[in-house]
Parts: sequence; structure tokens; C-alpha cells
Amino acid sequence: MNMGRVVLASGNAGKLRELGELLAPLGLDLRPQSEWRTPEADENGLSFVENALIKARHAAAHTGLPAIADDSGLVVPALGGEPGIHSARFSREGTDAANNARLLTEMNTLGGEQRAAHFYCAMVMMRHPRDPAPVISTGQWHGRILMAPRGDGGFGYDPLFLVPGENCTSAELPVATKNRLSHRGQAVAGLLAALRRAADDGD
Ligand code: IMP
Repeated sequence: MNMGRVVLASGNAGKLRELGELLAPLGLDLRPQSEWRTPEADENGLSFVENALIKARHAAAHTGLPAIADDSGLVVPALGGEPGIHSARFSREGTDAANNARLLTEMNTLGGEQRAAHFYCAMVMMRHPRDPAPVISTGQWHGRILMAPRGDGGFGYDPLFLVPGENCTSAELPVATKNRLSHRGQAVAGLLAALRRAADDGD
């Protein structure tokens, strides 16, 4: 099975390596959109899925290649879904430390079930910018938000995200364990399965 060259709508080298390895069985030659000097897409969707579609469509239009994009973040139902699609820039500074501090402030009166949260990841593969049937895969990872950070692995909100069953935060998990459990790991597995089915069906 060889699906040829595909552009990844992200400049993140870590994501490129991780996705490249996971999607290797499909014979994909995954390239970062920076190879085509693709400008940033205007992520004006209201949901992770919409923003992933916008990014993939933008990269496919700019490069003329099939495109893969993802969009992810933390959802706290007690905050009406925030930080949600604003996860990367929840605070004015937009650093992980400032975003975590803002999250703790917003949640300081919340206890018990109200501290429930989940990470969400949407992954999309679009064959061309007008593809009417893009492949869409999503993953969710449920946990709770602690009162103070713990651990220094991972990134983003990991030090505040208590993983049920592991009794530690996602910043304290070995990388391989996080990749197996996480929203992104689940979404990538789903995308891989969907692409395999599509290839087998001759789509
Ligand atoms: P992006 O989709 O990679 O741009 O992620 C958006 C934001 O969501 C990041 O900047 C983080 O704040 C948050 N986020 C997404 N995935 C994770 C994760 O696995 N751990 C912690 N934070 C995450």
C-alpha cells in the first residue's frame, strides 16, 4: 500500500516524527507544510474538528497534495468547555505556566465532580481541498484537574491532569504510556484504521 506524498499541516517537528512513525505502515511520505512555506491558516472554527478541517484544507490548497491536520486541547465541562479551542492561548502570555495558572484561578472555587476534564484531539485527512468526504478521527482522554501542578514531563496542561487508574499526572507518565492512553494516541490509531479501510476499499 503506498499513498505517496502527504503534507502535515503543522510545523511541529515532534508531531511530524511521531505521526510519520505511526503512519509508516501506510507507506506515507509525510512532509511538513513549511517545505512549501505554507502561511498559517485562519483557525476561525468553533470546534476542534472544524479547525482541523480548516488547517488540512488550507495545506492541501497551498501544496496541491493530500493533507493531514490535527487540533487538540483541554475541555473542562464546568467551565462551559473552556479552555477548549483556546487551550494554547488561554492566558495573555500563552506560555504553559501562565495557561496552567489561569486554569487554576478559573477553577479555584470548583470541587469534586466539577474538576472533571478531558483532553480532545481531532485528526483529519483530506485528499484535496474540495474533498467532500475527509477522513475524521477523534480521541478523548478523561481525568481530573488537580489543585497544584505535579511532574515535569509532557507539555501544556499535563502537570495538572490527573490520570485515573495511573494515580499520577500525565506529566509523570512515561512517554510510551502517555502515547498509548492519550487523546492523540487514540485519534492517530483511529485515523490509521480508517485510512487502511479506505485503501483496502480502493478509495
Ligand atoms: P495543539 O493542537 O498541539 O496546538 O495543542 C493546543 C494546546 O492544547 C496545547 O498548546 C496545550 O496547551 C493543549 N494540549 C493539547 N494536547 C495536550 C497534551 O497532550 N497535554 C497537555 N496539553 C495539551
